Amino acid sequence: MRTIEWRSGKVVTINQLKLPMETEFLEMQSYSEVAEAIKTMKIRGAPLLGAAAAYALALVAYHSKAKTRNKLIGELERAAETLKRTRPTAVNLFWAVDRVLNKARSLNGSPRELAEAVVMEAEKIAEEDAAANRLIGKHGAALIEDGDTVLTHCNAGALATVEYGTALGVIRAAVEQGKKVRVIATETRPKLQGARLTAYELKRDGIPVKLIADTMVGYVMYKRMVNRVVVGADRIVQDAVINKIGTYQIAILAKEHGIPFYVVAPKSTFDLGHKAAEIVIEERSPEEVTFIGSERIAPEGVEALNPAFDITPLKYVTAIICEEGVIYKGDLQSLKPTKQ
Ligand code: MRU
Repeated sequence: MRTIEWRSGKVVTINQLKLPMETEFLEMQSYSEVAEAIKTMKIRGAPLLGAAAAYALALVAYHSKAKTRNKLIGELERAAETLKRTRPTAVNLFWAVDRVLNKARSLNGSPRELAEAVVMEAEKIAEEDAAANRLIGKHGAALIEDGDTVLTHCNAGALATVEYGTALGVIRAAVEQGKKVRVIATETRPKLQGARLTAYELKRDGIPVKLIADTMVGYVMYKRMVNRVVVGADRIVQDAVINKIGTYQIAILAKEHGIPFYVVAPKSTFDLGHKAAEIVIEERSPEEVTFIGSERIAPEGVEALNPAFDITPLKYVTAIICEEGVIYKGDLQSLKPTKQ
């Protein structure tokens, strides 16, 4: 399943807020539509944010009426600023925007030539993500045994990426190798990516999945109902993995119960020049906590916290799986920086 596509001057993707009840495709022709879709989480998932932001710049270049190279670069830079203000935590978005901008800045041709190069660079980012996920799946599947029950959190599937998925890619690859794998998926309050998206993807693929409320993780581990945890990441820094809120408590529980805890992400998610303390953790609207959908669940006027991500120190991580292979945390610094 391809989650995002370039169709001559349009970016087509699925509105993830409507899933699983409705499959609505969004056709976007301007970068501001893409920025809005990212902000409101119609488009979400770290690798997909990177591809979507790159395609947003492709839209700017493709539709630009700029008569000079410098004017076009100026338009791209303004759009890049807007895109970078949409969501602060997943590094893929910033990486992809800078990669496309640097490509444009490195060229001296006409606005048309630059536009073609920008579109090509965005396509390349998307293709590379799809290819990385297949490789990640291959490396990760080796860690999954026939008969395993794997717990996953949030949605790190095809929907969070260009294709195939990171954490769910590992599960898919193990299943494709003929292994019998069951999945326990957390619902992932407040935005319910686990219940809405992970359960949807796995059910569609015929991979057995059971949904649990986030509060049930300790119980299922205590009862030995899971024997591996596989999650994605929004940013991997020198000292920690930053991922969907709730990941940290799952990692601590996994360590306590002696269950391997694997983090799965492409190299575009790595930000090894920074430490966790330097990263902005997105704080979303309190209404996402005081409401479920359009239904208020807390008293009027009550305050709520809503950090969208948390920080899991590396001591809780058994290994990180990326397109280069399985990395044990002591080896993290030996990774080459992601190509710009
Ligand atoms: O807020 P989201 O839905 O964009 O966050 C995405 C996640 O945190 C995913 O769980 C994930 O692990 C990173 S994307 C593969």
